[in-house]
Amino acid sequence: MRAMITLAALLLGSGLALTANAASEAPAAGAAASEPGAQAEAFGSDWERWRAGNSVSDRASLQRGARDFLNYCNGCHSLKYMRYSRIGQDLRIPPELLQKYLVPSTRKPTDYIETPMPEADAVAWFGKQPPDLSLMARARGTDYLYRFLTTFYVDPSRPTGANNMQLPTTAMPDVLSELEGLKRAVFKTVARSDGTKEQVFDHFEMVASGSMTREQYDNFVRDIVNFLDYVGEPAQAHRRALGVWVVLFLLVFTWLAYLLKKEYWKDVH
Ligand code: HEC
Repeated sequence: MRAMITLAALLLGSGLALTANAASEAPAAGAAASEPGAQAEAFGSDWERWRAGNSVSDRASLQRGARDFLNYCNGCHSLKYMRYSRIGQDLRIPPELLQKYLVPSTRKPTDYIETPMPEADAVAWFGKQPPDLSLMARARGTDYLYRFLTTFYVDPSRPTGANNMQLPTTAMPDVLSELEGLKRAVFKTVARSDGTKEQVFDHFEMVASGSMTREQYDNFVRDIVNFLDYVGEPAQAHRRALGVWVVLFLLVFTWLAYLLKKEYWKDVH
């Protein structure tokens, strides 16, 4: 009996750890902008601390992310381990809508999400093939993706006219500038201990506005990052939802085990 209770306690512990994990990764929506003290700093000076704050249990966000990915990224990037139909099922997009809005007319819902861009063209244009993004959220992490998509800046010395704080000298053009607008990087000169001077990034300055406000753009990026997080591990939304039931089951089970223990021991005491 005692072993049973210990077992229950152990299971309970791991169940709680499971949900605690889910909770700690849960959204701190708008975290980037609303961190204490962030307002006072110049835009972008704290970019290294920006967080995605996405939530894979937010289905509406995943749906928007899927749409936006297919519109803005799929021209260059594939998701070769993911089928349109699986997205439809997981994100509860009815087949008619999936077919109408997400599956290109030349493709079937059961096809994998490839990019229409021929590899040879990609290499000729960008010097390298844009990577498949199926596992990118797992490889680099969601915060990285968020920062990558929010720290493009104008840099005439680059072939694409743009550079990036997260991935300096990136070959990816600033494809979202119409939405975000254009920003430039302001550098400051600091003296090193050996007396030489060095240029370090200080903050961003908007030079042209886009069709979205900064907050709208943040949310737009967060949706795409959320979608890529889901694509990297499609089962995670289900798994997290299951965690709650596991804990509930264990609580009930512990209670039953306790009653049983009382019953067995009542003649002894
Ligand atoms: C015009 C083509 C093009 C479009 C459109 C495009 N990308 Fe890229 N992307 C590239 C290229 C080229 C690279 C390779 C960059 C490098 O390695 O420097 C890249 C690299 C990346 C990387 C990998 C960065 C790394 O650390 O290696 C991510 C993530 C990414 N893109 C996300 C996106 C997302 C999300 C979208 C849609 C909003 C998008 N891209 C749209 C061309 C594109």
